[in-house]
Amino acid sequence: MRTGLVAGNWKMHGTLTSVRALASELAKLPLAESNAEVVVAPGLAHLTAVVDALGDANIAVAAQDLSAFAGEGAHTGDVSGTQLLEAGCRWVIVGHSERREDHSESDALVASKVRVALDQGLSVILCVGESLEQRESGDTDAVVARQLTAVLDVLEPADASKLVLAYEPIWAIGTGLTATPEQAQAVHAGLRSVVAQWSAQVADELRIVYGGSVKADNAATLFAQPDIDGGLVGGASLDAGSFADIIRAIG
Ligand code: PGA
Repeated sequence: MRTGLVAGNWKMHGTLTSVRALASELAKLPLAESNAEVVVAPGLAHLTAVVDALGDANIAVAAQDLSAFAGEGAHTGDVSGTQLLEAGCRWVIVGHSERREDHSESDALVASKVRVALDQGLSVILCVGESLEQRESGDTDAVVARQLTAVLDVLEPADASKLVLAYEPIWAIGTGLTATPEQAQAVHAGLRSVVAQWSAQVADELRIVYGGSVKADNAATLFAQPDIDGGLVGGASLDAGSFADIIRAIG
């Protein structure tokens, strides 16, 4: 039985005041009653403030990216896994489509980042997903398999317990267009079978979450699918009430 995971991706939103308020509200949620593991990913400059505001709440903090360079060094603007751990992060999102697009992150760079993050002791939410054009030309499975395989090539099965896969169709992110539960389930099952060719045991244990306009009113039907183990939530995670409803949808 896989533990559900709900992660809030706050992207480049919020002020110090607003993220502190949001984290304080989340800290009051009765998460002990929930079966979900909960993670929030504030912007880099807000990490320590959010860690402080969450206190001993059962909510972990993720960064939204990290450097592919291991250790410390002359890499202006980069942040290392070690620095993120010191700031109180336990997780990092890697390969979000906005980074792949805005910063031309290749599959190889994403794979390097995953390797560095795991080596430095962070857990990873690895994002994969196709564009609308790729979906319409029938390439969805091939695209996400290619993105996933680039990372599997640098992993050992023992790393897998610290990895969560997020399927995020680009056409569904921030658009209000959600993949139907059937569409998402089909891709999740395909991803799990790619992992199974690499390690059957890991395929069984790996959590694969869905992202792309997850809201309080569609979360339960998505999470009810056999291969959907939770959500990576953007817009709806910026409101404590709707994020709480999504966490409850894990059941
Ligand atoms: P969204 O974002 O929920 O606003 O569509 C999801 C994501 O990009 O992780």
